[in-house]
Amino acid sequence: MKKDVFIHHRPQWKTHIGFVLAAVGSAIGLGNIWRFPYLCYKNGGGAFLIPYFIALFVVGIPLMILEIGLGHKMRGSAPASFASISKKWEWLGWWQVIFVMFGIVLYYSVVISWCFNFFFYSFNLSWGADPNAFFFQKFLVVSKGPFDLGDLRTPILFCLLLVWLCNWVIVFSGVQKGLERANKIFMPLLILLTLIIVVWSIKLPGAREGIAVYLKPDFSRLKDIKVWMDAFSQIFFTLSLGFGIMIAYASYLPKRSEIVRDSFIISIFNCLFSLLAGFGVFSILGYMVHSTSKGFSEVVDQSIGLAFVAYPKAISMLPAFQRGFGLIFFGILVIAGLSSAISILEAFTSAIIDKFHYSRKLVVSVLSVAGFLGGIIFTTQAGIYWLDIVDHFLTQYGLVLAAIFECVILGWFYKAAKLREHINHYSRWNLNKWWWDSSVKVITPVVLISLLASSLIEEFSKPYGDYPWLAIVVIGRDWLIYTLFFAVIVASHAWKIEPKNRMLSLE
Ligand code: ALA
Repeated sequence: MKKDVFIHHRPQWKTHIGFVLAAVGSAIGLGNIWRFPYLCYKNGGGAFLIPYFIALFVVGIPLMILEIGLGHKMRGSAPASFASISKKWEWLGWWQVIFVMFGIVLYYSVVISWCFNFFFYSFNLSWGADPNAFFFQKFLVVSKGPFDLGDLRTPILFCLLLVWLCNWVIVFSGVQKGLERANKIFMPLLILLTLIIVVWSIKLPGAREGIAVYLKPDFSRLKDIKVWMDAFSQIFFTLSLGFGIMIAYASYLPKRSEIVRDSFIISIFNCLFSLLAGFGVFSILGYMVHSTSKGFSEVVDQSIGLAFVAYPKAISMLPAFQRGFGLIFFGILVIAGLSSAISILEAFTSAIIDKFHYSRKLVVSVLSVAGFLGGIIFTTQAGIYWLDIVDHFLTQYGLVLAAIFECVILGWFYKAAKLREHINHYSRWNLNKWWWDSSVKVITPVVLISLLASSLIEEFSKPYGDYPWLAIVVIGRDWLIYTLFFAVIVASHAWKIEPKNRMLSLE
């Protein structure tokens, strides 16, 4: 039998369920509760579920298997795994973890900080009678445009510090004592609290109408390419694909692992959770419509304000236990957000440790300080503009591009069949050659390239949002180019131990 090369002293998950919970924890995040419902509402309610589930089965699950299989085989973070295939692909691993660490997690942590604030505000329903004015004018104090930074918003800054403190403590404590232990507490708690909220919400008067809006498809929206692009980029975001996270998490798996089965469980569980959260969100919006006798479009915010405007408004209208409802809802957001933020921090930490052999404690400490400092821009009065711009470019282009490269490199250069053999050798659920190979080699890249192309055409004909050109080009779009540049530099740096020898030497 072929000699298996495994690193024995690499940290390992203590239990199989520990890995599954950590991966589910990474997948379930703000994306499921904050992003999914507003994307759903914006893109034709139930009609959005069609491209969403197509995206899940056509690209989501195959890519989840690909990333988990890669990390499991190469026993390394994203850069180490790509470098083990060939040094010329190492940049891709770095690019992923760099733009996620110095992009996505910076604003992501700020949104968790908003959730923390709203968790505290729930104690006395501080948003009052006009949550819209409260959120935009009192809490964010939104300025006139992205370059009008105004002051730092101290409540946001303070809670951002709290978020990074949590990230730091958990990732600092290592794979078993930090990530695994935290997720073993976070995930059951998250599911319990979500069930409480959903059961509570669907019993409210008007919930049925809310759910009808959620599930009733407006098929005409499916003609809009933006709806498809939103669905596909949401699948990457929600499954944490293209982030380098699943590669790093899988590198801590033991030899005998159920890669295929786990990939299905993680992906489907995550999407069912989104669906469930959607029931809760739309029921309460339905209740609000019912109580105000206004139209749905008047009470529902289609933007990132949905969780922070419509929800508080609905909470204040509840007949009883308003505070309890607010605490649970924002508590859910905080837990879901933290379990994803720590996975991003881990993806970068493991990359640095693999290549430079610095101690985990040092790397996590430096990164946590850098993450906090980097997030400060989003705590200014112009923070929401920057958040919107960076989120748009990094998720719609960064994650999608990273996934295209992953498919091409692994499917064609490394050969999908080779990875499939590895996966099948260790798992009881065997991968079907036709389904998986054709998805990784042809279907996923073709679908993603076409969506990307249409999205680029759209972008050129009408730049995103009403932002100044400089904000869009220099910070939004070019952020991906700067991070790519850094990725190439870091990739060209010598390894302490060559990637291939690294695996052999640690056998
Ligand atoms: N997968 C994480 C989320 O959905 C990043 O929020």
